[in-house]
Amino acid sequence: MNKHLKIKKICCIGAGYVGGPTMAVIADKCPHIKVSVIDKDSSRIKMWNDNNLENLPIYEPGLKEIIKRVRDRNLTFSVENDSYIREADAIFISVNTPIKSTGLGAGQASNLYWVEKCARKIAKSAEGHTIVVEKSTLPVRTAEIIKKILHSSLKNNSSENAPTFSVLSNPEFLAEGTAINDLQNPDRVLIGGEDYSAINSLHEVYSFWVDPKKIITTNLWSSELSKLVANAFLAQRISSINSISQLCETTGANISEVAKAIGSDNRIGNTFLNAGPGFGGSCFKKDILNLVYLCRNFGLSEIADFWEQVIIINNWQQDRIYKIIVEKLFNTVEQKKLVILGFSFKANTNDTRESPAIKIANDLLSEGAKLTIHDPKVSKDQIEKALDNSFKKSKNNALNKQEWVYEKSIYKALENADAIILLTEWDEYKSLNWEIISKHLNSPAWVFDTRLILDENIIIQNGINFWSLGKG
Ligand code: UDX
Ligand code: ADP
Repeated sequence: MNKHLKIKKICCIGAGYVGGPTMAVIADKCPHIKVSVIDKDSSRIKMWNDNNLENLPIYEPGLKEIIKRVRDRNLTFSVENDSYIREADAIFISVNTPIKSTGLGAGQASNLYWVEKCARKIAKSAEGHTIVVEKSTLPVRTAEIIKKILHSSLKNNSSENAPTFSVLSNPEFLAEGTAINDLQNPDRVLIGGEDYSAINSLHEVYSFWVDPKKIITTNLWSSELSKLVANAFLAQRISSINSISQLCETTGANISEVAKAIGSDNRIGNTFLNAGPGFGGSCFKKDILNLVYLCRNFGLSEIADFWEQVIIINNWQQDRIYKIIVEKLFNTVEQKKLVILGFSFKANTNDTRESPAIKIANDLLSEGAKLTIHDPKVSKDQIEKALDNSFKKSKNNALNKQEWVYEKSIYKALENADAIILLTEWDEYKSLNWEIISKHLNSPAWVFDTRLILDENIIIQNGINFWSLGKG
C-alpha cells in the first residue's frame, strides 16, 4: 500500500439511522480512532447521550451494548461544533436526503439541501488535508457537487495552510434491524474515489475488522451507481414476488410454496422473496426514483419505465390490500374497529419511513374506519407524525378527522375488533393466543395476514375469518 494519511480522528455529520450505528461500530472496532458524531438536532444528541440506554433515538438489536462500551471512550455525540470538523482527518456525511417534495424533480430527485449545507460547513471549518466521505445514499455524481463546493472555498484561500480535500464515496449497505451485524460482517465494503492515497486511508480503517478481499475499490461514479442499483435489484425482487402473490390468489397457488420452489434454484437464491404489503424504508423508493430520474435526464426512457414499474407495483400492492379489506368487510368499514398490528416498515426497527402501514391506515381512515394501532417499538408520537404528514400530502382536509388511537397492550388493542390487519412481522404477533382473542372480537371478525406469519388453522378453528396474502 502506498504512503497514506493514517486516520486518527473521524467526525460524522448526522446522528441518524446510518451515522449512529456506523460510527458506533467503527469506534468499537478501532479503539485507536477518536470518533465524534455531530448533529444539528440537539434533542437527538441528548438521546444518544442518555444514561438510560433504552432511550437511544433508534432501536437496533446489539446497538446499546456497543454504545455502552464505546461512548465516552472513543465515541462522542455532540451538537454541531466546528472544532470536530477542524480536527478530523476524515469527515463522513450521513445526513438525510429525502425525495424533493416541491420544485424541479419533485417526487423523484433527492433533496440535497442538507448535503450541500454540510459541504459548505466543511469548506469553512476544515484544516489541513481532510478526506470527505459520502455515506448518505445520494444520486450519482453528487460527489461532483461536494467537490465543487469544497474546491470553490479554496479559491478564496491562497495561504500556504489552505485546506485540501479528497472526496470518497463509501455507500452504506446496512439494513435496519440487522444494522449492527451488517456493519460487523459486511458482504462487501465499497470505496469509490480517484485519490488512491485517500482510498488507502479508508481501506485501512475497514481492514481492522473486514477481510480485505471484501473491500472493493472503484471509481467514484461506479460506487455511487452501485448503491442505487443494489437497492433497485433488491426492491425489484420484492415487486416481482408481490406481483405473483395476486396470481396465486387468483389461481389457487400458494405464494410461500412458489417462493420456496423458485428460491431453491441457486441462480435465483432464496432471499428477498417474501411477499408482503410492499417495501418501505428510507432507501428503496428513493433510490429507484433517483435511478428513474437519472435515466430520464439522459433520455433513456425505456430504462426509466422499466425501473419505475417496480414502484408502481409496490403502490399497487398496498392499494390492493386496502381494497380487499374493505370488500371483505361488506364493502364498508365505516365506524368499524380495525386494529393495525405493526406500524414500522419491517420488524426490529422503530423506523416508519415509507412504511406500507402509513398508506393503508390513511386509506382506511378515509373510508371512515376507527383504527387502533399497535407497534412494539414505534411510539404514538411517531405514528402521529407519519399520519399527519401523509394527510398533508393527500391535501384532503376531510381526512384530518384522525379517527385512530394508539394502544400499547396487544390484547387490549384487539378487544371488540371487527378486523385485525397484520402489517409488520414482529415476533410477538406470531404467538398470540387466538382462543382468548376470539372471545373478545365482534362477529363476524376477520384477520388479514399480509406477512404470512400467522397460523391459519388455529385462527379458523376459533371461528375467525382469515385472509392471507398470496393464498388461493
Ligand atoms: C435496504 C437494503 O437492504 C440495504 O442494503 C440498504 O443499505 C438500505 O435499504 P432496509 O430498508 O433497512 O435496507 O430494509 P430491508 O431489509 O432491505 O427491507 C426493505 C423493505 O422490503 C421492508 O419494508 C421489508 O419488509 C421489505 N421486504 C424485504 C419484503 O417485503 N420482502 C422481502 O423478502 C424482503
Ligand atoms: P439516515 O437514515 O440517512 O441516517 P436520518 O434522518 O435518520 O437519516 O438522520 C439524518 C440526521 O442528519 C438527522 O439527525 C439530522 O438532524 C442530521 N442532519 C441533517 N442535516 C444536518 C446538518 N447540516 N448538520 C448536522 N446534522 C444534520
